Formats: sequence, structure tokens, C-alpha cells
Amino acid sequence: MAKEQFATCPEWCMPSEGTWVPYDLTRDDMKKTFNEDIRQFPLTYIGQVSPSIVGWSAYKQAGVEAKSNSMTHALITTTGLSSTGIVEEIQAVLKEADVESTVFDGITTNPKDHECEAAYAVYKEAGCDGVVSVGGGSSHDSGKAVRLQAWLEQNGDDRKLRDFACNLNPHYTTKMPTFPDISGIPQVAVNASTGTGAQFTSTAVINDTELQYKLVVVVPGGLPSVAIDDPLLHRTQPPHVLAGAGMDAIVHALESLTGRLNCPVARSQSLMGIQYMANNLREAVGNPQNHQAMENVVWGMVLCSYGFLKVGAVGVIHTLAHMLGAMGDGMAHHGLANAIFMIPVSRWNMIANPQAYKDVGLAIGMEDIRYQMPIHAAEATIDELEKLRNDVGITNCSLKQFDWFMEKPDDYIEHAAIWGYNDFTREANNRQTSPQDLKDLLYAQIY
Ligand SMILES: [Fe+2]
Repeated sequence: MAKEQFATCPEWCMPSEGTWVPYDLTRDDMKKTFNEDIRQFPLTYIGQVSPSIVGWSAYKQAGVEAKSNSMTHALITTTGLSSTGIVEEIQAVLKEADVESTVFDGITTNPKDHECEAAYAVYKEAGCDGVVSVGGGSSHDSGKAVRLQAWLEQNGDDRKLRDFACNLNPHYTTKMPTFPDISGIPQVAVNASTGTGAQFTSTAVINDTELQYKLVVVVPGGLPSVAIDDPLLHRTQPPHVLAGAGMDAIVHALESLTGRLNCPVARSQSLMGIQYMANNLREAVGNPQNHQAMENVVWGMVLCSYGFLKVGAVGVIHTLAHMLGAMGDGMAHHGLANAIFMIPVSRWNMIANPQAYKDVGLAIGMEDIRYQMPIHAAEATIDELEKLRNDVGITNCSLKQFDWFMEKPDDYIEHAAIWGYNDFTREANNRQTSPQDLKDLLYAQIY
């Protein structure tokens, strides 16, 4: 392996000679998907994100954007955003631009396969020709699933959502060439959640309610035509929702910075993103009317999202969060699920890349760790992130809080270890992971 090819990497992310064999892949898979001369992800895919509009009153552009993307009748996919008035306001903005709209507000947290099917039935019945998703990741991802179903029916393709799930075995790269480009069906994503980044990406994460795991659906052209982030909308989040969403954003930055796919592009955005979140999330949760703090957490979320979406990917915190959100009643909020696993998984992961955790600590202002050994600095950084999580009110991280889980914890942990091991998110994790590792991490959270 030519080390010069890693000339842009700092010393700590330089792979050792011959040690990085992509686990789970057969030798034949490796020939197809990896350059054998370089053992760890030899190519850096700098992904696309949706064009974005960020700022106060940006939501008023939703109608113009829908119109300019050739929409005449939009299906609004949403969780309802009860009593905020946001959905009604977006309908008014669409009407002003001569775009009709029909609302489907039957989406719940961790959007379910049957909800996406029901949303598509309404899309078809109403004669819609595009989607306006309003809310957080559930609204946007179900909107992408509606567009995919519309494309499949329009093209006489009888595949189902499940056929587009990207897993590690069989490896997603072997399936993706058969996936359609759905960019011809527009989506305007009006985002009101300071977390997932789903408004920027082509990935739709949908609960397979029968198999109880997350379908990570990635199709070309799935990314929304435009994403809109307006602090006016973000500040309607209840404080506990903002706290969870903020933890999701922080985990995006943390996993992209410390994982195997970290690179200069991911680092530049995630380091600043985590700095914005760490310096403003407490104030925004404490007082959503603090305009400056709210605007800054929106920018922090944008940066954290870009860091993981464009290149850095996520890791095992997300693997376990996905499984927690997919099992039982499917109602464990993604932000809370990430907050639950953020600290224990980071403490377990950090030996694989302590310098990266130290870099995070320095980025959030921990000057006292500058001359510490990386492993000690990493421990201090994770302690600081735990303090931030506690300060915004997420102090109960025991799996005991989920009644359904405690009915048969051994069964759920076995299931989570098997299906989580095959989850798309696990591939870029910094520390090599076995199903037993996933089990151990889950058992440690029952206390
Ligand atoms: Fe996330």
C-alpha cells in the first residue's frame, strides 16, 4: 500500500499496513467493491446534499420552491406538529404559489413501512405530483418513501420498500446498481428538527415492522429538491425534543470525526458543528426564545449533518439507536436513542482512535487537555459530552424505561445483535465490532 496516498491524513488516521480488511466481506466481494492494494475504504465518496435555504422566515420560500420544481399538487407528509400551526402555514404558502396540497399526518417517530404505504395511497388518490415534507426526519424520510413508491408504480416495477434496504450482507454496493433514480419526483423538505439531517440526504430510514429492523433505503436522486431550515420553526420544538435532536446532531459529528471514513472534508464541518452545538444547545433548550442560541444550533445541525452526510458516515451509536427505534412499539425517539448510547459506546470505541476524541475536546474548548496523552484526553472529552447530555435533561439512559423491552430483554438483545450487525451504519465505526460486542453494550445499559 502506498502511504503517500494518505498524504492528507493526519498520523492518527493512517491505516497500518495490512491490518484493515473490511470485515464481513468475502474475498470476492472485496474484489468487486474494494481496491485490494488499500485495505481501508480506498475511495472517498464526497456525497451530494440538497440545496438549502437557511434563515429566519425561510419557510415562506416553500411555495416558490415547490412551484419551480414543477409541483402542482403536493402531498404534505408530516407527524402533524400538533398545535404549532406550522402545517396550516405551509399550506397557505403553497396556495399563494398556486400549488394545491393534501395533508397526510399519520407519520409517527421512526416512520413505519405501513405508514409510508398509507401516505402513498393518499398521494395517488389525491393526484399529487410531488411531496412537501414538514417536520423532522420521520416526515422527510416517509416523503422519500412516497416518491420511491410513486416511481415504482409509474414504471411498472413491483419491488417493495424492503427491496431497497442497504445492508452489509449482502453488501449494499452489489444491489445499488439496480436502484432507480427518483429525482424526477420533487420534494421540498421544510425542516423543523435540529437533528437528523434527513432534509439534506437521499437516505430514507424506515421501520420494517414485521422484521423489526431499520430499512436504510438509499436510492439515487432520493435527496429532496431543496431543504429549508428556519429557526422560527425549530424553536417550536418542546425542550426535551430539542435536547434529543441536538444529541443526534452531536453524534453525527462525533461518529464522522472518529470513524473510519473521516477525512478533511468531514473534519472541517463536523468539528465546527460540534463546537456550535456544545456552545449553544444548553441555552436553546433552556430558553427557545433565545434567538441567537436557536439560530446557532440550527447552523450547528447543518454543519454536523454535512459532516456525516457528505463523507464521514456514522457508527455503532447509530447502529444501536436504529435497533432500539425499530423494535417493540417503534416509538423510541431517534434523538433519545442516540443520547442513550452516545456515552457508553464512545467509552468502548475510544481505544481505536483516541486522538480523534481529543480533537473533539479541543474543538469544544477543553484547553486543559491539550498536553494530555490522547487516551486521557479522550476520557475527559467523553465525560464533558456526558455533562452536556445531562445538562439538557437527558439523565435516564437505562433501557428499563422501555416497558416493552423489559418484557423480554434477552430476546430483544439477541435480535438487536443479529440485525444490528448487518446495519449499514456499522461499517464505518472506528472499532471493529462483533455481534457479542453489540450484546455486551446493550446488556450494560440495563441498570
Ligand atoms: Fe441520526
